Amino acid sequence: TGPCDIYATGGTPCVAAHSTTRALYGAFSGSLYQVRRASDNATTNVGVLAAGGAANSATQDTFCAGTSCVITVIYDQSGRGNHLTQAPPGGFSGPSTNGYDNLADANAAPVTVGGHRAYGVLVAPGTGYRNNSTNGIATGDAAEGMYAIFDGTRYNGGCCFDYGNAETNSLDNGNGTMEALYFGNSKGWGYGAGSGPWIMADLENGLFSGYDPGYNAGDPTITHRFLTAVLKGEPNHWSIRGGNAQSGSLSTFYNGTRPNKSGYNPMKKEGAIILGIGGDNSVSAQGTFYEGVMTSGYPTDATENSVQANITAAAYATTTTASPFVAGRAISLRATTGCCVTRYITHSGTSVNTTAITASSSATDKANASFYVRAGLANSSCYSFESRNTAGSYLRHYNYQLVLNANDSTSIFAADATFCPSAGKNGQGFSLASSNYSTRFVRHYNNAVYIASNGGTNAYDSATLWSDDVSWAVQGAWTP
Ligand code: AHR
Ligand code: AHR
Repeated sequence: TGPCDIYATGGTPCVAAHSTTRALYGAFSGSLYQVRRASDNATTNVGVLAAGGAANSATQDTFCAGTSCVITVIYDQSGRGNHLTQAPPGGFSGPSTNGYDNLADANAAPVTVGGHRAYGVLVAPGTGYRNNSTNGIATGDAAEGMYAIFDGTRYNGGCCFDYGNAETNSLDNGNGTMEALYFGNSKGWGYGAGSGPWIMADLENGLFSGYDPGYNAGDPTITHRFLTAVLKGEPNHWSIRGGNAQSGSLSTFYNGTRPNKSGYNPMKKEGAIILGIGGDNSVSAQGTFYEGVMTSGYPTDATENSVQANITAAAYATTTTASPFVAGRAISLRATTGCCVTRYITHSGTSVNTTAITASSSATDKANASFYVRAGLANSSCYSFESRNTAGSYLRHYNYQLVLNANDSTSIFAADATFCPSAGKNGQGFSLASSNYSTRFVRHYNNAVYIASNGGTNAYDSATLWSDDVSWAVQGAWTP
């Protein structure tokens, strides 16, 4: 049995059901999502291990080995065709081609579900999915419910990490034209108790935590690693609920009439579906999504409580990713800052910068973006990076800037060319500390590459975007 079987029994069936980790109907045996790999732009669908079961993540692991993949489609399991794809520009433009939003890195949010490896959707700022032409989603003041499972430890205050009902033209069409779950610590509109993050309702031109447009004491700060967030609305009535997706029951944080502000009663829902963005394609927020559904009709608390029991039984858990730093392996290092997710550390002669590399880049550009992992020249528990096409030359810093130089066998060269990885400072990939300036990390800044501290006298030490700029996705090399 899946959550959507429970909603159907309750008389409020799912009209959209999205998950990259598991089937949301007991009988679902189709594709959960589609990935596209960077090496040749080919796509493949990821299905389930068995009807009603977890994602067959080995499909992704095999298809994406030695390259990187993005999630291109999150399929709707309800049969209504309400699939989510790359969000188009609206009131705001995304950072990708033609103002579209970025797609999520398919490997960035590994978890286990019932002991099976699966991947969530990591929404970095600039990332978004949408469907502006849906079937069966509530419009006007019609009743609907929804839940989603998020990572309660990964959020920000940007607008707006949402999942749910939004405008069909990606524009702000006024109060009441959205009804979506929001998760994060924005205080720009409503907020709740403590310092956040909070589950709120994005009803357009406002994130609502209860009856009052600003503070509502009943909406608590909530940070479960796996978080169940629930929102439902019907004529002049709505509710926020939430709980720990790994155990226990749901609590109700608001249950009452529409907010004390004009324009939200009756509602003017339009029926598009968004993930990771605001209704007008605001793209500043971050978060992680594992599964979510939208229903037709206002689910009872009892139905939602049964869904929560199904969620806890699914047994979400964290997993550790194997280190990609294996001596002898060829890798490429990709930026994770929203501006720059197609850019890789490359050399051109002795200069080092970040360059956008795609499947159609030249063989030289691909090789310039490829490095062999070597045991650290100064410290064998760290690593050095030898050029793929200039044997004997390594990435090293000089005057705090990265260059590619031949190993001259001095101890200062060895130290300058040794870097120690740790988990990425923005939650993605890895950060690489300099072995001889251990508070400085490999960072891109204006597309040049430095070892940078988090704040400091040099422009490239700027604290702005530091965590993103020092976090690198480690991929199989463009030139293996
Ligand atoms: O309601 C908050 C945000 O305001 C919406 O998501 C967006 O459309 C608008 O900017
Ligand atoms: O390196 C590109 C960008 O340049 C960085 O993300 C930012 O810190 C600087 O503006």
